[in-house]
Amino acid sequence: MRRIDIFDTTLRDGEQSPGVALNSDEKLQIARQLAKLGVNVLEAGFPIASPGDFEGVRRIAQEVRSVSVAALARANVKDIERAWEALSGGEFPRIHTFIATSPIHMLYKLQKSPQEVLEQAIQAVKLAKSKVDNVEFSAEDASRSDVDFLAQVFTGVIKVGATVINIPDTVGYATPEEYAAFLRAVMERTSGIEKVKVSVHCHNDLGLAVANSLAAVGVGVHQLECTINGIGERAGNAALEELVMALHTRRDKFCVDTSIVKTELAKTSRLVSRLTGMVIQHNKAIVGKNAFAHESGIHQDGILKERSTYEIMTPSDIGVEAETIVLGKHSGRHAVHQRFTDLGLELEESQFEEVFSRFKILADRKHEVTTADLFSLVDLKAEKEDQIVLDSLQVSSGTNITPTATVRLMVNGQRLEDATCGDGPVDAAFKAIDKVLGTKGKLIHYSLQAIDGGEDAQGEVTVTVKFGENLVGGRGVSTDIIEASVLGYLEAVNRACGRGWIKIQEKNVS
Ligand code: KIV
Ligand code: ZN
Repeated sequence: MRRIDIFDTTLRDGEQSPGVALNSDEKLQIARQLAKLGVNVLEAGFPIASPGDFEGVRRIAQEVRSVSVAALARANVKDIERAWEALSGGEFPRIHTFIATSPIHMLYKLQKSPQEVLEQAIQAVKLAKSKVDNVEFSAEDASRSDVDFLAQVFTGVIKVGATVINIPDTVGYATPEEYAAFLRAVMERTSGIEKVKVSVHCHNDLGLAVANSLAAVGVGVHQLECTINGIGERAGNAALEELVMALHTRRDKFCVDTSIVKTELAKTSRLVSRLTGMVIQHNKAIVGKNAFAHESGIHQDGILKERSTYEIMTPSDIGVEAETIVLGKHSGRHAVHQRFTDLGLELEESQFEEVFSRFKILADRKHEVTTADLFSLVDLKAEKEDQIVLDSLQVSSGTNITPTATVRLMVNGQRLEDATCGDGPVDAAFKAIDKVLGTKGKLIHYSLQAIDGGEDAQGEVTVTVKFGENLVGGRGVSTDIIEASVLGYLEAVNRACGRGWIKIQEKNVS
């Protein structure tokens, strides 16, 4: 079977999702898991975009040495130099440079003629090639470009050493048949195409990213660009887990294989969701909570008689195993430690002790501690590194009284407190935090869901907050939903602080 490369861009295109802001520790954690998952190329970021992006790429290139690490650069000297600075020292570095080739982008965005774009693309690849052998060139908005012009650009960049050419559907406009025909035409007209790998990168604006990528497989492309959980610009990118499981489950049709370790899919999906704060919709294919749930009596009956009646894949294919031991307040260290190990959550001894004491507190409040709860406990470990930590919270609300919240925070080791009222208890608590810190966050998105079934389920709150021009996400989990909301808001505040988007006012921290 033909092997197809999986190019993961969760940390670059995925990180461009509104509200996602990962720090370099979080990026490294995801990169390590992507390496375990078996991706062939890991796009770690866009180094020129910010010092944080640069640092993320640099650390990943240094520390994740089993896969090729790529960095994005526009087709200009500064971007390429910066990308190389971040990548050099890595084991299998790749510079990924791009320029737009569609009439609409060249005219309005770049304000350049096709000839100027062609020359810039060639110069960029030449420069990248002088630094590293592995150079990918992307023609942004390729699917809306003129076929002959695109073939001319690809012919030019291949001549000067591009090793991969990428033909993206940047705005998610293509349909599968049309995209396949377009790719065929471009490939036929490009000289030297047999010397390079051909890649596709599909966006999901019309919900066709996976379908378009699979159509490209039929044309014979060598690389698929995708993200975990399909996160990315606007409606996102093709979802890695969907592509991989479609190729695997229908290998009779596609006749291709990938190097992905499928049993790592669920774990990777959960990690990305947890760290990005992007909640996975319940009916999401492959990794959604309901993806393997059978509700109707007829379906349940069929499944009990013969699983294949309604199941084309099993949860264990993607690494979801049935829980055989129920964890609760009587569970000891050993059982809890074993479950963390089974879930691939490797904790150092001191980390485990800390998480275990939180487990005991939670188990006192909850009858049964589920897998989702365990993930939430590990999540909370970030608190230790945070500049601002919740010390205590008191709210009062009800019928015919004004909701009021008193919040006490530890800010760089100092205890600070303030109280205020709001439209509801959550609003009051957020305003009280802003009052303590002298910040002004605008809540753009708020969602609350039960982390698992049952009356004693923990609440998981996800927020997107705007500080000035910047959007940042946060997530909090607690058996108390107001506390979960406050923890989510504080996570967003800490991330915004970490990125230098907000400053805690001096008068508040003496
Ligand atoms: O969508 C796109 O065209 C991109 C390129 C930079 C590959 O993300
Ligand atoms: Zn993209």
